[in-house]
This record gives sequence, C-alpha cells and structure tokens, in this order.
Amino acid sequence: MSNPVTSETLIRKLKHSVLKNLSDFLDPHDEWKTVLMDIQKPTGEPRYTQLHVRRFQRLVAQGKSPTVELLFDWGTTDSTVGELFEILNRHKLFAPARILLPVYYGFYSVNSRHTPYDETIKQKKRENNPHNTISNISHGIILLCFTLNPGFYTFTFHELTQITKSWDDRPVSAGGSRLGEGGFGTVFKGLLNSTPVAVKKLNLVDDMSPEDLKTQFIQEIQTLKRLQHKNLVNMVGYSSDGQHSCLVYAYMSNGSLLDRLACLEGSTALPWQVRCAVALGTARGLEYLHHQNHIHRDVKSGNILLDEDFIPKISDFGLTRASSKRSCTTVITERIVGTTAYMAPEALRGEITPKSDVFSFGVVLLEILSGLPPVDENRDPKLLMEMKDEIDDEEITLQEFIDNKMEGWDMDCVEKMYSVASRCLSERKNRRPLLKEVLTELEDFI
Ligand SMILES: Nc1ncnc2c1ncn2[C@@H]1O[C@H](COP(=O)(O)OP(=O)(O)O)[C@@H](O)[C@H]1O
Ligand SMILES: [Mg+2]
Repeated sequence: MSNPVTSETLIRKLKHSVLKNLSDFLDPHDEWKTVLMDIQKPTGEPRYTQLHVRRFQRLVAQGKSPTVELLFDWGTTDSTVGELFEILNRHKLFAPARILLPVYYGFYSVNSRHTPYDETIKQKKRENNPHNTISNISHGIILLCFTLNPGFYTFTFHELTQITKSWDDRPVSAGGSRLGEGGFGTVFKGLLNSTPVAVKKLNLVDDMSPEDLKTQFIQEIQTLKRLQHKNLVNMVGYSSDGQHSCLVYAYMSNGSLLDRLACLEGSTALPWQVRCAVALGTARGLEYLHHQNHIHRDVKSGNILLDEDFIPKISDFGLTRASSKRSCTTVITERIVGTTAYMAPEALRGEITPKSDVFSFGVVLLEILSGLPPVDENRDPKLLMEMKDEIDDEEITLQEFIDNKMEGWDMDCVEKMYSVASRCLSERKNRRPLLKEVLTELEDFI
C-alpha cells in the first residue's frame, strides 16, 4: 500500500491522478499562474518569471496541462506538498488544497493565523486522528470552519452514501432520501450529523460527454466559491472520488418555487406578500450575478429554492459563464442550454447575453402572478410566456390571470409587477430592461 500524502511528501512523489485532479481546478481561469507567481527560490526570490509563464502557456496548445507541467518542474527541487498547500490556502484555492491534504490539515492551516479558534481546532486535531471520516468530526467544528473559511468540504463518495441512507430512491415524504430529479442527476437529502444537506448526484445524460459533465461540475464549484450572496444557494462541499461526482448544498426546507406555486404535497398557496419578497430577492440575486459579469442561463422557478423563511436562493450555476472581464456582452455558443419554456428568442439561437436572464425572469414573474406552470401540454397556449399576448390583446383580464388561491394581493401592485414582467418579455432584447432597472422598479412598489 502506498504511503498517505502528508505535508512532508515531496511534490515529485505525488501520483499522476492527484496532479490531474489538481489541474482540473487550476487549469481553468489560469489559477496555476497564481501558484506559479508565489513560488520562491530558497533565497526568497521568485523562482519563475514571465518567460516561464509563456513557456508553460505554450504547452496548452500541445494538449498538456500547465498545472501538471509546473508541478513537474517545481518538483525537481525538493519542494513539498506542505509548501504547495500553503500557497493554495494563501490564495483561497481551498478546493485544490483539500484534494492535496485531508480536511484537518486544511482547517488547521487555514485558521492557523492566530484566530481565537486555534486552540479548539488543535485540540480537536489531537482528539481525532487524521484519517477520521465526517461522522466523528464534531459538527460544531465543521460549521465553525465554514464560517471562517469560505472554501468547501471535500467529501468522499462513501461519506455521502452514508448520509443519504445509501441513496434511498424513495421520496422523502415516503421515508426515503430523494428530493427531486433534474437535468444532470438526482438530488437527495442527507443528514450531516443532525444538519440536513442536499446532495446532487450527477449522472451522465445522453447528449453530454463525460468531459462536459466534469466541466459543468468544476464550473459550478468555482462559481459558487467566488460568488456569495444572500439570494444565491450556499454550497457546502463536493465529492469527486466515486463513480459519480456529487455537489453538496445547504438544504432548502421549502423546496423550489415551482413546487410551492404548484402547492405540491399539500403545501398552502403562497400569499402575495411572500411572492413579492421572492420576486425581489430573486432579482437581487440575479442583479448581483450580472454585476459580477455572470450570466445564469437557466433562470426558472425550479432553480429558485426557498429556505425555512421563504428567502429565495438561486441555484444551479453549472450553466453560468464568466463572460468578458470588462462587461456582460454577447457571446455565441454552439451548445444551447436552458429550458425552452423560459428561453428568449436569441437564447434559442445560441446567443448568450444577460438580457436572456431578464427574459427568463419575466416568465418567473408570470408564474408568481398566476401560479400556472411554465408549460402545460393540455393548455392553450402551452407556453406561459405566450399568455402575455392574450392579456395584451385583452383576451383575458389580469384579474382572471392571477392565481385565485393567492391571498393578500392588491390590484395596483399586481399591475406593476405585470408591467415589469411584460417588459422583461420583450421579443427584442434591446427593449428589455437591465436587471438593475428591474430591481429598482420592484423595490419601488414592494
Ligand atoms: N438545496 C436544495 N434543498 C432542497 N431541495 C433541493 C435543493 N436542490 C435541489 N432541490 C430539489 O431537487 C429538485 C431537482 O433539482 P435539480 O437537479 O437542480 O433540477 P432542476 O433544476 O431541473 O429542477 C429541485 O427542483 C428541488 O425540488
Ligand atoms: Mg436546479
């Protein structure tokens, strides 16, 4: 059996599979350059220069990983895993740091800069040996570490199997663990000691290659690491060692907006005040994403999750793209993503612009107003977005359109929300408002 990796292990002794795992995190967005810049000679001078950067960069064209090549080069000296680990943590590259060393070293090192919690962690480290699994790590310590450290926990597939009762496929309501099914896999409820979490077990789908799925996986992790907001879902961690990659999120006890509008499992209809707060919170989350130059590309009520206080949290960043660093401009892609019932005309043609998120948000506002599903095969029109024409042509009144199960509404606010929705749903993207304009308008009357 090979020796476990410790901080004293020489980098040149790392297995290729570990290097490959690291490169999955450090190659995209050129994070390897951050590491490279921080590597020093024993004299304290930088080991690498811009010339080296260009040399490693050229290797990409030959299909090589700059991370693997860099570590290979640095490994020719007696550099250690501990040194690399320090660099990764210094730059908040927690996910690759955790690949390198077990969690305790990670928490210990990251928090070792004289925080008042040092002693607790050191004591915990003494009490537990480093090979412990999640079940015998104190829950308090994990939460503490998440609070101090915005990095993610690296679970093993085995740990996630345990906390989801072996992926019990029966719905939670029937005593199982299944929360729902999505485009990329199944979501299970798990209990991390006594704290519930949602575990998304990714599955290969017909039209997606394993490489594409891996890209989505890494993208989701990197996006959630960077972007944090009250109205975006919190990620707890992930696993990438088993036959399925898994993503672990904070559990949203009120499920998705889609399910709550449909009053699934006998839930009561959301009153107008709650619907307004959900619309506003979602707009805040989306405005934050756009402000960070991120386009969600799959805005829909199924991706708006509600916590115990019905605070909306936008989920599924796997499809987001960091657009141009300068501004959110238009990109054309061959791969068309998103759900048709929410897609703007230009998104159907493969164009990526923040204005398509605005359009999809318009559909969500129609759902909030009407309680109707975005698509219904037995309805005329099938697509909810097309109901806008019926209202505009006065074939149905707004009063007829709104959800008759909803309490506490007033016509003035309903009209204002519909007016925002209607402009978001303009066929031509230039006629649609920006998300920040949508937000200002909603804030005005809510
Ligand atoms: N963090 C979470 N907490 C509670 N339920 C969740 C969570 N994430 C997802 N779900 C449930 O699982 C379902 C499937 O999610 P997902 O795989 O993202 O597919 P989709 O976005 O297509 O609905 C969601 O509609 C929701 O009901
Ligand atoms: Mg989803």
